[in-house]
Amino acid sequence: MNLGTTYLGMLLHHPLIVGSGPLTDDPDRARQLEDEGAAALVLRSVYEEDITGEQLAAFFSAESHGDSFAEAASYAPEPEAPLGPEEYLEHLQRVKAAVRIPVIASLNCVTSGGWTLYAQLLEQAGADAVELHLYHAASDPTMSSADVERQMVQIVGEVKGRLHIPVAVKLPPLFTAFGHFAHQLDEVGADGLVLFTRFHKVDIDVVELDVVRTLEPSDSSALQLPLRGVAALSGRVRASLAVTGGVHTGLDVIKATMVGAHATQLVSTLLMNGPRRLRTIRQEIEAWMEENEWSSLDLMRGNMSFGKIPNPAAFERQNFRNLLTPHG
Ligand SMILES: Cc1cc2nc3c(=O)[nH]c(=O)nc-3n(C[C@H](O)[C@H](O)[C@H](O)COP(=O)(O)O)c2cc1C
Repeated sequence: MNLGTTYLGMLLHHPLIVGSGPLTDDPDRARQLEDEGAAALVLRSVYEEDITGEQLAAFFSAESHGDSFAEAASYAPEPEAPLGPEEYLEHLQRVKAAVRIPVIASLNCVTSGGWTLYAQLLEQAGADAVELHLYHAASDPTMSSADVERQMVQIVGEVKGRLHIPVAVKLPPLFTAFGHFAHQLDEVGADGLVLFTRFHKVDIDVVELDVVRTLEPSDSSALQLPLRGVAALSGRVRASLAVTGGVHTGLDVIKATMVGAHATQLVSTLLMNGPRRLRTIRQEIEAWMEENEWSSLDLMRGNMSFGKIPNPAAFERQNFRNLLTPHG
């Protein structure tokens, strides 16, 4: 039975990737995840705001001396306080040394600009790929959706222009014309699209007059949105596609593959059940495939995508009508 897949140009034995978050904070834990069969790991994000021009100047003061990370690091001045970005590079190197599977660094970013030089340092520190976590607060009333999209496309183009390793883009689900935007990312060379960022819950404490933010673990119901997003893009973009959000069971992975995903990222289920869950999910996939006589995931990939439907917009609209007015 063949669970093999290609994600960001990397050949993986199966599509189960550990998603960005705290699971890979400890290199020993990263090795444990590899031992339980993780196909690749995504590190938690480093934030654009933490990568200041000054820090970059320090990193890149070594430019005239050579451009390898080892050299650059040895020339960088000792930081007075712990530097997030520098620590991140060291952490990346430690995780890389601990495992043989691909390690994907994650950058949370809002604007284009000088900080994108930092992505080069991630490459030099050994990252096998970079995942750009695009974030936009959408609170500026003078900024149009076209402005926001232009800025995001610019970031991706800029980072792509600097790196030789693949660049994936993790996206929020809230775009008016999602397919069009994905095409623009495709055109500037995004190697992968990761659907979707899961927003944390926000509530108001009316006594303390405070905003209460919670990041609750997901369940399989969170899968619906990414399934829809991947189904809409499968076969229509060059970039490989990954699902994040709500992948908890072997059946979730089968569904993601059927709509066209090349990889599935897991966080909540591993936080709740531990690394062994990877092995169980893989067994569930194999058992389901055997029972339903599928010999490879490649054969089922995309067979439930919108591309397989002659007129997806009309099909969707008809389903919507039928659901609300079953006898209408
Ligand atoms: C505690 C925690 C920390 C996270 N940190 C990051 C992060 O640094 N960068 C990122 O892109 N996503 C981060 N995520 C989001 C996950 O990568 C993932 O997209 C989300 O949890 C949905 O997947 P799940 O349903 O498998 O949990 C984090 C999630 C959790 C639960």
